[in-house]
Amino acid sequence: MAEFRLPAKSRIAKGKTHAPSVAPSDPGKVRHFQIYRYDPDTSGNPRLDTYAVDTGRCGPMVLDALIKIKNEIDPSLTFRRSCREGICGSCAMNIDGVNTLACTQALADIRGDVKIYPLPHLPVVKDLVPDLTNFYAQYASIKPWLQTQTPPPPDRERLQSKEDQELINSPSACILCACCSTSCPSYWWNSDRYLGPAALLAAYRWLVDTRDEATGSRLDDLEDPFRLYRCHTIMNCTNVCPKDLNPAKAIAATKRMLAERRL
Ligand code: SF4
Ligand code: SF4
Ligand code: FES
Repeated sequence: MAEFRLPAKSRIAKGKTHAPSVAPSDPGKVRHFQIYRYDPDTSGNPRLDTYAVDTGRCGPMVLDALIKIKNEIDPSLTFRRSCREGICGSCAMNIDGVNTLACTQALADIRGDVKIYPLPHLPVVKDLVPDLTNFYAQYASIKPWLQTQTPPPPDRERLQSKEDQELINSPSACILCACCSTSCPSYWWNSDRYLGPAALLAAYRWLVDTRDEATGSRLDDLEDPFRLYRCHTIMNCTNVCPKDLNPAKAIAATKRMLAERRL
């Protein structure tokens, strides 16, 4: 019989339970947070710590509770955040089974214990901080800048019509949070060769930019069985995007551009 072994340190142990720092004003407002803890510099397996938080003395979002835990209960808890407005993308994590932004996820919309893990299928730097090195390298690989041969007009910028700008309006709103790519099964298994929905949405943004003059070489770079065509239109990416963007549609449109230039 075939025997399968889990990779080292993939089992999650039961961790510690932490009480609120001060007695809660209303015990009914105490909620429990089960949070993934892992420090690769120690020899132990990851563990799930439980924190009791007085949400009566806390802001309304998951990020507010994480900050309260770090400030008042356990300063060793590690996570990324910056803007707390859904703009920087740094607080992306898996909350209640869904990749999303901790700063825009309301506690009121989660039933029962709040379960928080790092974005899935990425190496973990520590606790809720994933290693995004490959993700950013893939973004850089699509050359996310304007490429032109024609010199700009001497007296002004390269202008666009309102209609042309609308083509890039939505894909330009991506905050590179990685929620989409890390929810994509194709990316889980092939992230070394498949660009994933975030980088492909960015590639599309430059393909449809009417000022850009490198469309042909951009399409050449994407015409590859792995870099683009590992997308099987499963739609997880579009379903989770916290900015309501549609990477799956952009990928489909890119495939159509490639098909049309073959005609
Ligand atoms: S539509 Fe494509 S990119 Fe999006 S989740 Fe599915 S396979 Fe991944
Ligand atoms: S497309 Fe959405 S989910 Fe994906 S990186 Fe951009 S903002 Fe995040
Ligand atoms: S802290 Fe910036 S998106 Fe959440």
